[in-house]
Amino acid sequence: MSRTNTDTMEVSGGTPLAGEISVRGAKNLVPKAMVAAVLGDQPSTLTNVPRISDVTIVRELLELHGVTVRDGADGPHSLVLDPSRVEQATMGDIEVHAGSSRIPILLCGPLLHRVGHAFIPDLGGCRIGDRPINFHLDALRQFGAVVDKRPEGLQITAPNGLTGTQLELPYPSVGSTEQVLLTAVRAQGVTELRNAAVEPEIIDLICVLQKMGAIINLDTDRVIRITGVRRLGGYIHEALPDRMETASWACAALATGGEVFVRNARQVDLMTFLNVYRRAGGEFMVTHEGIRFWHPGGKLNAVALETDVHPGFMTDWQQPLVVALTQATGLSILHETVYENRLGFTEALVRLGAQIQVFTDCLGATPCRFGRRNYTHSAVISGPTSLRGADLTVPDLRGGFSYMIAALAAQGRSTLRGIDIFARGYENFLPKLEGLGAQVDLR
Ligand code: EPU
Repeated sequence: MSRTNTDTMEVSGGTPLAGEISVRGAKNLVPKAMVAAVLGDQPSTLTNVPRISDVTIVRELLELHGVTVRDGADGPHSLVLDPSRVEQATMGDIEVHAGSSRIPILLCGPLLHRVGHAFIPDLGGCRIGDRPINFHLDALRQFGAVVDKRPEGLQITAPNGLTGTQLELPYPSVGSTEQVLLTAVRAQGVTELRNAAVEPEIIDLICVLQKMGAIINLDTDRVIRITGVRRLGGYIHEALPDRMETASWACAALATGGEVFVRNARQVDLMTFLNVYRRAGGEFMVTHEGIRFWHPGGKLNAVALETDVHPGFMTDWQQPLVVALTQATGLSILHETVYENRLGFTEALVRLGAQIQVFTDCLGATPCRFGRRNYTHSAVISGPTSLRGADLTVPDLRGGFSYMIAALAAQGRSTLRGIDIFARGYENFLPKLEGLGAQVDLR
């Protein structure tokens, strides 16, 4: 987003979004590929890097650990990361980044391999559930790491080095799978990871590691086998496009009755989303340059939807889509099975005029960890309802984007507070919005 000294935006709703935006590399891959560079003994080059604050935070964090990071031939859209002088940063320096990102936990393996210990401050990220790190720590311990929990953060050491192991994740967690990959590639011997996450961003990270010299087999049934190697080199890699950002703008087009061409969007990573988009009545056309999304006029259809790990419907697509579903005819049903607390944003939509009821029951067939534990994780959305402007405070990245879509679809003016968070995951958010014809003003 362009630099502003305000984090409040006025939105005049009722205008369909129309035009073109482009997406760059995925927010949920780029910082991890940057971390992977620490494992090498030669510089790496990452291209298609978005200018978002999550990248800036990780860049600063790596620099604190002695990695030289400079813009590449493509300006800030490519990064050259030189890890030849990696060192342990001081605790005081790292603590400055406490609460700003969830990426530091992924530095454990690379730092243990490079300098023998790691200090991890309190983690940040969106408040969409407890977001524990028990799978990460259990995995690290199985590799031979010793985790010392201190009030200021975690001190992690590996007195006897890191050794390959057999692991099974209790749930196919994205971050924990990445943790295992980034640790196992240089551990001694073979690691077998069962119940791994296989999101496209993880496959892209595996491609990065393979370019560096890692040996990683992606077997059937969520099994990944990694043969540790003694050294890794650098990589040259173009990050896969951001499928969350693509879906966010696609939903904005649908909810506002508009049409948006998302340049660089890639069909293969969005198949499940595209099926649901079509069932809901949205139209799209895939070209070799991107995907055009539009509302064809007439009624939208209610859908039943369950979020799930890949190849299921992503939890990050759910919040923007729910806004479009407030404009569909009939009852849409949503079962959120990835995060226990990702429906809080619906309260604000109700204030705008949406009819959404939330439930602790599992409204769907996918086995889920939350039903019997009384978490509000299902919703019934009744539509179509006309929305009216309101005063809203952004709760988290995707929830905030859904508020913005709702404000754009609503009649009248809305005030959106806390929009700074969009800079975490949406490059050039404001210029893109204005380019699509949205009536917005910073206050
Ligand atoms: N979980 C545990 N223990 C752990 C780790 C995870 O119980 O040690 C649970 C979580 O509480 C959650 C589930 O497992 O209920 C899945 O969490 P996961 O580890 O897969 O999520 P993550 O790696 O922390 C990434 C993305 C999220 C995205 C999820 C799911 C990044 C930086 N974040 O988070 O993206 O929702 O995977 O696909 O990659 C976003 O982009 O807005 C965002 C929140």
